[in-house]
Amino acid sequence: MAPADNNLGVQSENKQHAKGGNPDVGPTRGAAAEANWGSAFRVAASDKWRSQSATMRRGVTDAICQFAAPRPGMRVLDLASGTGEPAISLASAVGPTGRVVGIDVSDDLLEIARGRARQRRFDNVEFRRADAHCLPFPTEQFDLVTSRCGVMFFADIQKAFLEARRVLKPQGRVAFLVWGPFQQPYFENTIGVLLNHVAEPQYDPSQLDVFRFARPGSLSAALDSAGFRNVHEETRTVPWIWPGTPEELWQYFGQVSAPFHSLIASVPESKIRTVDDAVHSALAQFHDGERVKLTATVVLAGAEK
Ligand SMILES: C[S@@+](CC[C@H](N)C(=O)[O-])C[C@H]1O[C@@H](n2cnc3c(N)ncnc32)[C@H](O)[C@@H]1O
Repeated sequence: MAPADNNLGVQSENKQHAKGGNPDVGPTRGAAAEANWGSAFRVAASDKWRSQSATMRRGVTDAICQFAAPRPGMRVLDLASGTGEPAISLASAVGPTGRVVGIDVSDDLLEIARGRARQRRFDNVEFRRADAHCLPFPTEQFDLVTSRCGVMFFADIQKAFLEARRVLKPQGRVAFLVWGPFQQPYFENTIGVLLNHVAEPQYDPSQLDVFRFARPGSLSAALDSAGFRNVHEETRTVPWIWPGTPEELWQYFGQVSAPFHSLIASVPESKIRTVDDAVHSALAQFHDGERVKLTATVVLAGAEK
């Protein structure tokens, strides 16, 4: 299905889903686990917006690549690669003597990643469908395991981190990037505005899995528990710049941000126009005529086997 050109596209997709027997809206942490990253609708939207999305995410790609410090010749495993980052940027860093394997549970998203790697003519990166909780690799294969905006969605973080540790060589390292708190411009001027117009008193977005490791020290604690050494963590704010209009950014958000789909779908028809207008106005404060200039606050955590 091609994505519709407004947020109603998300509405109609989710409402069709609801008719099929899942009327729950207004997600809690449990509902967030249902985030459907690989739905045909989201895959089509990810493809449609891939150039703008790559530009907006450049700051977080650079942050994890710099934090991970890949070296030429390294073997890297990227968990939850989705449409291909940071795996593709890491492939450039490890060069022709190195190799990157990106895994994700959604083969449809990985197909986009494969296309992007082909476009760049990279033959040192491959994408395989796999679950981070049960990696299809022998022990001690990789120098570095990375993930950008992925680990917070792993249902059993201890199991997934033990798997990452198992496939690392003895001196291997991990480098993970996750979202910082909900209280930052990208979320406050989209979902925060929506929540001002939709009465969901019990709904607390900071309880969503997407913010599971936003609290400083929480990702480090999970790495510690899985037996990693020399765990270190920092919070960083980087550019998050959408190369287009506020209206396009809100369309993109509604179509691609799987953890918020059911909340957006819960907006009554009678309020959709009001919510869209309010979000457009909020984002317009950051629009310089060409770009919506926001920042992203993220947590980076690294450790050694
Ligand atoms: C927010 S996306 C991040 C994708 C990409 N790394 C990026 O930064 O654009 C989260 C990804 O986690 C993947 N994912 C969720 N649970 C997973 C699991 N158990 N194993 C592997 N991938 C998983 C989803 O399919 C989705 O592509």
